Amino acid sequence: MKPIKVGLLGLGTVGTGVVRIVEGHQDDLQSQVGSPIVIEKVLVQNKNKSRSIPIDADKMTEDPWEIIRHPEIDVIVEVMGGVEQTKEYILEALERGKHVVTANKDLMAMHGTEILEKAKRHQCDILYEASVAGGIPILRTLVEGFSSDRITKIMGIVNGTTNYILTKMSQEGASYADVLKEAQDLGYAESDPTSDVEGLDAARKMTILATLGFHANVALEDVSAQGISSVTKEDITYAKRLGYEVKLLGIAERQDDLISVSVQPTMVKQSHPIASVNGVFNAVYVHGEAVGETMFYGAGAGELPTATSIVADLVAVVKNIKLGVNGKQSGVAYKEKKLKTDEQ
Ligand code: NAP
Ligand code: HSE
Repeated sequence: MKPIKVGLLGLGTVGTGVVRIVEGHQDDLQSQVGSPIVIEKVLVQNKNKSRSIPIDADKMTEDPWEIIRHPEIDVIVEVMGGVEQTKEYILEALERGKHVVTANKDLMAMHGTEILEKAKRHQCDILYEASVAGGIPILRTLVEGFSSDRITKIMGIVNGTTNYILTKMSQEGASYADVLKEAQDLGYAESDPTSDVEGLDAARKMTILATLGFHANVALEDVSAQGISSVTKEDITYAKRLGYEVKLLGIAERQDDLISVSVQPTMVKQSHPIASVNGVFNAVYVHGEAVGETMFYGAGAGELPTATSIVADLVAVVKNIKLGVNGKQSGVAYKEKKLKTDEQ
């Protein structure tokens, strides 16, 4: 059985989880795909940094092209973050016929259409389940599970860091700055946590959810976003007294062909199930015309939950390789969207 060779770009929080799952679940993975999955090379910024997992020194490189241009690597797993440089690596990998799995919502929300088109042209897979809601398989659910229905609303908590902060402020009276530092230490926050606390990370995820859910090319600029940096302990205390919790909610709605997408701190009635989604957990409500209301819940960030989504994508890519059906992912030929304006 010829092994499937993976080039891993990044060995931080998520990359470490990917190595742990690929190695720890190797037998189960192999029994599903019929080949060993081998992490052939790993890109890092600093080879001398101490790592929490043992990794052969000769597998590590600081040169991305050693992986992107490696003739034997079949699949690139991108968990390094960043946009412009990372896009260049991914586009070249696709041109070279390598399949790509990524957790990078910034990249997919900003350049998803171009990357998907390139992947299709080169008959490659590009899968990005981990980019939204960490360990919840929400993208696959929207694309496959709801293919028979017409989704009218997607609403939820899609940023783990801010939900962790709001929960600790509400339940323990903790200070915003202290809990943000904790979320960073736990590996939940982005390398620049401004995108978490200012709602941009959630806006990127809502762009991806609305695009896939409504089969329309929603752009990041179409999403209005406000974060939690101005939410005070007093706001949270008053909201609780009135029977509400403050949550950072993403809301995407479709009325006829008009779409609106936004992210903002919202007072949620304590009796509503979303009010009890706490800590790093995320929840996504999907309303379909036929199915009615559904809800998906799970860890929205962190090493192993996020890595489960990455490795599930990897399994899907390898199954497609075996069937010879790569490059058929959704999201390429979606129609242009019409945005709902305030007057509508
Ligand atoms: P991280 O802990 O900061 O790790 C980034 C890794 O990439 C590090 O190993 C770093 O090398 C390497 N790296 C970064 N820039 C590089 C460059 N220019 N050249 C070579 N190597 C580079 O980040 P993370 O939390 O794992 O997140 C990675 C990606 O997953 C991001 O796109 C993030 O948005 C996404 N994501 C994260 C989570 C989460 O819970 N953390 C969840 C879902 C999605 P060194 O180790 O040498 O510094
Ligand atoms: N910083 C992100 C969050 C990571 O806190 O939700 C998961 O995408």
